Amino acid sequence: MGYKVVVVGATGNVGREMLNILDERQFPVDEIAALASRKSLGTEVSFGDKTLKIRDLATFDFTGWDMALFAVGSEATKEHAPRAAKSGCVVIDNSSLYRYDPEVPLIVPEVNAHAIEGVRRKNIIANPNCSTAQMVVALKPLHDRARIRRVVVSTYQSVSGAGKEGMDELWDQTKGMYVPGQERAPDKFQKQIAFNIIPQIDVFMEDGMTKEEWKMVAETKKIVDPSIKVTATCVRVPVFVGHCEAINIEFEDFLDEDEARDILRQAPGIMVVDKREAGGYATPVECVGDYATFISRIREDWTIENGLNLWCVSDNLRKGAALNAVQIAEVLGNRVLQHA
Ligand SMILES: NC(=O)c1ccc[n+]([C@@H]2O[C@H](COP(=O)([O-])OP(=O)(O)OC[C@H]3O[C@@H](n4cnc5c(N)ncnc54)[C@H](OP(=O)(O)O)[C@@H]3O)[C@@H](O)[C@H]2O)c1
Repeated sequence: MGYKVVVVGATGNVGREMLNILDERQFPVDEIAALASRKSLGTEVSFGDKTLKIRDLATFDFTGWDMALFAVGSEATKEHAPRAAKSGCVVIDNSSLYRYDPEVPLIVPEVNAHAIEGVRRKNIIANPNCSTAQMVVALKPLHDRARIRRVVVSTYQSVSGAGKEGMDELWDQTKGMYVPGQERAPDKFQKQIAFNIIPQIDVFMEDGMTKEEWKMVAETKKIVDPSIKVTATCVRVPVFVGHCEAINIEFEDFLDEDEARDILRQAPGIMVVDKREAGGYATPVECVGDYATFISRIREDWTIENGLNLWCVSDNLRKGAALNAVQIAEVLGNRVLQHA
C-alpha cells in the first residue's frame, strides 16, 4: 500500500528535486499530483520515467490525499496549507511560515524524528532553513557526547537558496560581464552577485541581525536544544548549488579532534572527508546531487576551552530542502499513517 502524494511548487528548484528524490528513494507512491501557479498550466515535469502535467494549486482539492510536500513561498503557503491540512492531508512545508509555531513539529529526521508525535495538532510539519538543516546534522552527535555551549557559524550560501530567479541572476550577470549590452543590474540580490559576495540574506531585523541569521539561532534551539547559544553571519556567494559553513563549537566537556572525527564518521547522514593535504576536503561542486552532509577540516580550537572547528558542506536543494522533506514523509508514513 502506497500513499497519495501532492508536490506543491513542482516547477521550482526544490519541487523538482522532491520529485527526483521521491523516485530515487522509491517512496511508496500510489498516485502523485504536481502543482504550481496558474501560469505553469500546460507545462510538464518529470517523475522517474513518467511526465506529470502541472495542475493549479488555487483550485486543487486536497481531500483524500495523504500528504502534500509544499515548496512555494510563504504567501502561497499561508493561503493553501491550512485548507490542505483541514481536509486531512498532512502538509510538509518548506517555507518559514510555521517553523516557529510551538504546535508545529520542526524536523530533521537524523536529529529529532520523535517530534513527529506532534503532527496531529495542526496536521502540518515544518522543514528547516537550508543552512540550519546541514548544521544540526553535524551538531547533534557532538552535542550528545560533550554538550555544546556555543556555536559561531559563518555561512557561504549558494544562489539556488534564493530560488530559480537567483540562479538566473548569477548566470545572466556573469554573461553580462563579458558581453556588451547584456549587463544585468541586481534585482533578486541586493548587490552584484557575479564575482562578488554579499553579507546579507533575507531582511534586516532591529538588532542588526538578518532574518536568515535569526532563523539559524531559533531553529537550532527548537531542533537540538534550547540551551545552545548560536551566533551566525550568513553570506551569499556566487556558487549555483551547495552551501558551506565554517563552524566553531565550544563544548562543556573536552572532546579531542580524533574522537570528534570518529563520532561524525558513525553519525547518520554524514560523510567525513578530512585529509590534511591539498584538496583533502569537500567543496560544493563535489556535493551537488548527494544526500550526505560533508564534514572536513576538523581541528581543535586552542583559543578557547573545549573548542573545535569544522567545515560543513551540503547540497542545499537536497538536505537543505527536498531530501529532508522526503525523509520527513518517510517518518510520517512509517510512524503515523501506517498506524492510523
Ligand atoms: N532553495 C533552497 O535551498 C530552499 C531551502 C529550504 C527552503 N526553501 C523554501 O522552499 C520554497 C520554494 O523554494 P524554491 O527555491 O524551489 O523556489 P523557486 O525555484 O522560485 O520555485 C517556486 C515554486 O513555487 C511556485 N509558486 C510560487 N507562487 C505560487 C502561487 N501563488 N501558487 C502556486 N505556486 C506558486 C512556483 O510555481 P510557478 O513556476 O508556476 O511560478 C514554483 O513552482 C520557498 O518557500 C523557499 O524558502 C528553499
